[in-house]
Amino acid sequence: MNAGIETIGVFTSGGDAPGMNACIRAVVRTAIFSGLSVTGIRRGYSGMIDGDMTLLDRNSVSSIIQNGGTILKSARSERFFSEKGRRQAADQLRSAGIDGLVAIGGDGTMTGATIFFEEHGIPCVGCPGTIDNDLYGTDETIGFDTALNTALASIDRIRDTADAHNRLFLVEVIGRDAGYIALHSGIGGGAELVLIPETYTGIDEVKNRIHSLMTQHLRSSIVVIAEGDELGGASQIADALRSDEDFDNIDLRVCILGHTQRGGSPSARDRVLASRLGKASVDALMNGKTGVMVGIVNNQLVLTPFLDLVSHHKKINPDIVALSELVS
Ligand code: F6P
Repeated sequence: MNAGIETIGVFTSGGDAPGMNACIRAVVRTAIFSGLSVTGIRRGYSGMIDGDMTLLDRNSVSSIIQNGGTILKSARSERFFSEKGRRQAADQLRSAGIDGLVAIGGDGTMTGATIFFEEHGIPCVGCPGTIDNDLYGTDETIGFDTALNTALASIDRIRDTADAHNRLFLVEVIGRDAGYIALHSGIGGGAELVLIPETYTGIDEVKNRIHSLMTQHLRSSIVVIAEGDELGGASQIADALRSDEDFDNIDLRVCILGHTQRGGSPSARDRVLASRLGKASVDALMNGKTGVMVGIVNNQLVLTPFLDLVSHHKKINPDIVALSELVS
């Protein structure tokens, strides 16, 4: 069965994530193996509106599995927010003969796909690709494992220099709305405190905890902060500490890891996850499934309707939050 689909369009959108190339490769090779054609849409929804497309064959995706970024480029498209932009995109897809879409990206990409599918009915399957790991419907998103290990490698290096000087480091990691990278890299890196958007720790408590660590134990401390924490990023928290005279004698440094976490060669785990999800997305389209995102939950492939993605928020595991507090 191929549900009448002959040509699949594949695109990456929003923040790039290591493993997106592995996913594109799996989509292309699965589709070609199944007798379909594949068109790559460049620059996400922006390229869709502009008709920026290219035919992909087996060789177009050779030697890309090991590379970060995305060969199709990515974008955050303002124009796709408008009904007019989405209509232009649908017209471009129809004139390119694309009758099924694989959308690789994060929550913004899935929201766009949901509205687009409702308005224009072009069959579409989503593949979760974001380092933030904040998508409902999958235990892990493509790129999370690599980004986490990148953050962890940096934290380990920071620990060496922090220890050498008995310094306090505030390390900011990516996560505008989600604390997955912070929580997991904090546990892995032995952070003394982790601050994430999902739980609230007031500034007085932060000060008390850091102050007692730094004055009583006379050793280094690392606080890992998700960029979207309610107290603000590492620089804002540093300002609050520096303006408190109790911290006059505490040697404090800030390190913002930022986009270093988005790049780099994907981990083995991400390459395998991306390959599984890429294949599953083509299989889903060929089986007549649409308006769904593929994911892996408890090591099983699952399809989650777009509407459930928009209405559900993936909850951080409270046991892992408690573990982080216990062992820090
Ligand atoms: O895509 C999500 C994300 O990783 C956020 O957590 C982060 O704030 C954002 O991307 C950064 O986006 P940009 O690269 O557009 O600055």
